[in-house]
Amino acid sequence: MKSAMNWLRPILGAVLLGTLWAQDGKALFQANCASCHAVNKRVVGPALKGVHERWGNDEAELIKFIQNSQAYINGNFKYSAYAKKLYEEYNRTVMTAFTGLTEAEIKSILDYIKAETEALAKAEAAPAAASSGSTPAAGEGAGTASPILWVLALALGAISLALLITVAALSKVLQPQEAESISRPSLWERLQPVLRSKRFIALVLLIGFVWWVSATTVKARSVGLHKGYQPVQPIAFSHKLHAGQYKIACQYCHVGVEKGKSATIPSTNICMNCHNYIQEGSRYGTKEIAKILESWETGKPIEWVRIHNLPDLVYFNHAQHVKVGGIACQTCHGPVEEMEEVYQYSDLSMGWCINCHRQTKVDLTANPYYERLHQALKEKTVTVEQIGGLECSKCHY
Ligand code: HEC
Ligand code: HEC
Ligand code: HEC
Ligand code: HEC
Ligand code: HEC
Ligand code: HEC
Repeated sequence: MKSAMNWLRPILGAVLLGTLWAQDGKALFQANCASCHAVNKRVVGPALKGVHERWGNDEAELIKFIQNSQAYINGNFKYSAYAKKLYEEYNRTVMTAFTGLTEAEIKSILDYIKAETEALAKAEAAPAAASSGSTPAAGEGAGTASPILWVLALALGAISLALLITVAALSKVLQPQEAESISRPSLWERLQPVLRSKRFIALVLLIGFVWWVSATTVKARSVGLHKGYQPVQPIAFSHKLHAGQYKIACQYCHVGVEKGKSATIPSTNICMNCHNYIQEGSRYGTKEIAKILESWETGKPIEWVRIHNLPDLVYFNHAQHVKVGGIACQTCHGPVEEMEEVYQYSDLSMGWCINCHRQTKVDLTANPYYERLHQALKEKTVTVEQIGGLECSKCHY
């Protein structure tokens, strides 16, 4: 009896510990890691979901890293290069060493993280499948083309239905009385002569033609000019909040605007200057800001949908207009600081550029670049037209 107990004890112990580990993992995580980590979002350190995948499912290496991350980063282990990169990415924030935790304890924490990752993936899979149909359409003008096409498709359907009814009614009237009693011809047989008639074919061709013309013109018009164009963006970013309420300067985010051709759309790290600390918004909670953190963690840029788009044959330079010309963003882009979502305010047509160049005066005295011209013209101000702003080659490559 006693010897049997001695023999059983380690086995029982292992089983007991095994069941306790999974529960202990959570408690150990809360006590040691939660101040810097969460499973589903970045806190001080990275979100830990999927960490097994990032470490090639090599728990032995993970345990070494967690016990002493600095030794691991500076040492020569399997994932030292990766860990060093991560450390740089996190602005050299030193993760606490956990030499006091045993391998078994760390393993139980890792088990907990793994279980949470799987639970999260399951929870995400359900709504993701439901909403995958509503991803923002990048196709330009798709929004304007479809209503017209739908109306046409409906009209086509209605006409076909009306035709079928007339055909049915007509054939009933024209049907010889005796034929009916012998064998009623099927609907298909009655329809055939009508389907083959020239009038019907002409009608179908006409409808097809009208549909084709409207579809192609709608598409052609949407290539260059689409004033008011306002696509759905991947994150509910609000200019009204950032540029309006918090008065963040346009140039803080659109860093290129005074330096060169393009104003540029801010990269994720500009957002992170603030959203490293602000992880919850008053309107959407953590939902929208989490997308910034995800882009930051994965290194995948946020896929903003471009709104303004001149054709390739046109050259437009922001610095020339904003810095040299002194034109306010709002003259061309409208009251952006009041827009929840940006839309295209001006039509960006050639006429729009030319009109402004005809009317806008350039102060020659304010710009040393025009000194020679100024002396030659003996005028203080001239229009953009007079300095060559209507020459084709200035705007066209
Ligand atoms: C003081 C804050 C802090 C604490 C506490 C902390 N970590 Fe970290 N952890 C970090 C930082 C910061 C990094 C990013 C790498 C670096 O800077 O060294 C990181 C990285 C990691 C990584 C690698 C993540 C990846 O994406 O590859 C793991 C795994 C990890 N920590 C696990 C833990 C565990 C488990 C605990 C608790 C036992 C813990 N950490 C406690 C700050 C912390
Ligand atoms: C906090 C950063 C931030 C600030 C400040 C900011 N913007 Fe933006 N802006 C963005 C982002 C991100 C986008 C892309 C998403 C979008 O279109 O809403 C964008 C898009 C735009 C676009 C449309 C670009 C396109 O796709 O064609 C215009 C125009 C614009 N901003 C003008 C302004 C003006 C003018 C101001 C100042 C009144 C300003 N922005 C301030 C971040 C910012
Ligand atoms: C200079 C600081 C700063 C920068 C840079 C910044 N934000 Fe914000 N952002 C804020 C502040 C402040 C709030 C308001 C938080 C609140 O609602 O309490 C906010 C809120 C938000 C919200 C949540 C709105 C809500 O109510 O839930 C989103 C989404 C957001 N920002 C996206 C972005 C994106 C995308 C960028 C980068 C293009 C960016 N922010 C850059 C300061 C900034
Ligand atoms: C003279 C008119 C004009 C002024 C002033 C102007 N823009 Fe633009 N902006 C444009 C045009 C035109 C485009 C389209 C450029 C293209 O497609 O190449 C554009 C595009 C943009 C874009 C999209 C990305 C890019 O660089 O092409 C952003 C962002 C933007 N402007 C921000 C600003 C900001 C911020 C200011 C003020 C500091 C400003 N713009 C001033 C005419 C203007
Ligand atoms: C709101 C008025 C305004 C609009 C709209 C405008 N521009 Fe201009 N543009 C100016 C001014 C002012 C200057 C002169 C800047 C300077 O050099 O002092 C200028 C200068 C230029 C120049 C340089 C001309 C030269 O002789 O060096 C080019 C090229 C140009 N614009 C292209 C465009 C294009 C392309 C568009 C339309 C997509 C456009 N501009 C729309 C006001 C405008
Ligand atoms: C101030 C700038 C500017 C000047 C100067 C200018 N253009 Fe343009 N041009 C544009 C812009 C912007 C567009 C694109 C408009 C659009 O999207 O339809 C354009 C478009 C065109 C197109 C293509 C039209 C189309 O429907 O695709 C032609 C051709 C053209 N320009 C010829 C000229 C010729 C010839 C001159 C000289 C007499 C000239 N442009 C001077 C700005 C300019």
